Amino acid sequence: MSTAYDVIKPLHGTAFGAAVRLRAPLSQGLPKDLPAVLAEAGGVLVIPGLGEIAAKPELLLALSREFGPEVEDYRYTLTQRSSVHTTVPEIFLVSNMAPVNRAPPKRPEPPLTADGRLPVQYPHRRGWHSDQSYRRPPPDISLFYAVTPVARERGQTLFADGTAAYSALPATLKDKVDRLEGLHCQPGMGRSREAVLSGQVPAEQPPHARSQRQPVVRRHPVTGKPALYLCEWGQMDWVDGPFVGMEPGPHGRGAALLDELMAHYTRPEFVYVHEWTAGDLVVWDNRCTVHAATWYDGDNEQRMMWRTTVRGNPGPLYAGEKRSWVPA
Ligand SMILES: [Fe+2]
Repeated sequence: MSTAYDVIKPLHGTAFGAAVRLRAPLSQGLPKDLPAVLAEAGGVLVIPGLGEIAAKPELLLALSREFGPEVEDYRYTLTQRSSVHTTVPEIFLVSNMAPVNRAPPKRPEPPLTADGRLPVQYPHRRGWHSDQSYRRPPPDISLFYAVTPVARERGQTLFADGTAAYSALPATLKDKVDRLEGLHCQPGMGRSREAVLSGQVPAEQPPHARSQRQPVVRRHPVTGKPALYLCEWGQMDWVDGPFVGMEPGPHGRGAALLDELMAHYTRPEFVYVHEWTAGDLVVWDNRCTVHAATWYDGDNEQRMMWRTTVRGNPGPLYAGEKRSWVPA
């Protein structure tokens, strides 16, 4: 039996996304057709009230499998085994608690805007990215579940609507980006904008961790709609990129274009701010959205979040490609 649900859209304060309220516990049956609801809503679903997952993590895996043919097994893709759930290895732990010990985003948190709102727009807000965009084919969908969130008004997750952002680009910019490729880089390779600006020598990239080209505009394989597909300081390659065929480096023409595009992509009208409550699940589509995390007080607050990643339908551009991250 499947669990029925109500869909309320759009998400508060935005023109995209949807909240899904289940009418019965998840353990009584998985809700059907959620991938279609996600696509229709533009790439973000908030499903509150799933406290039962904390005691039964296999329910998160079962729900993740509704969204695609393959849920990533982190035993094979993470070097840090302490970040892998002990009984469900498809769950990646995002936490400042031991043994994960992952620090929250750095301070300073940008000051509130003049009207008292959380600043969301790049470059004041940094950290915008699409999960694992440094891999080809990149993943489709991520699910993020709050076991132990921190207090409201910090530790939020922000989402920007890449479909609306692309649609609102001036025609001259659309012409410029329609056939352009970005060069995406795995964090920690010494090729981030911060690393290059600080004069760090980039690390040798083994073949399976090389920066990857991705189209700046991706046509969504389910909806057919074009969306911006970009990251910024930490997940683009600032040695040879951020764009293929444009002047590289943190001061080049490519940098100027990226700054312009990301500031546009994260305009407040395209952004949803999620304040976490225990038992919330947020599902997002990495093919047409970007997201960012905000600061919380990691010295005085404990946070435990569970992530799964779904792959398998990146679109025809990637058909038949060997996985870039698997060593030969
Ligand atoms: Fe992420």
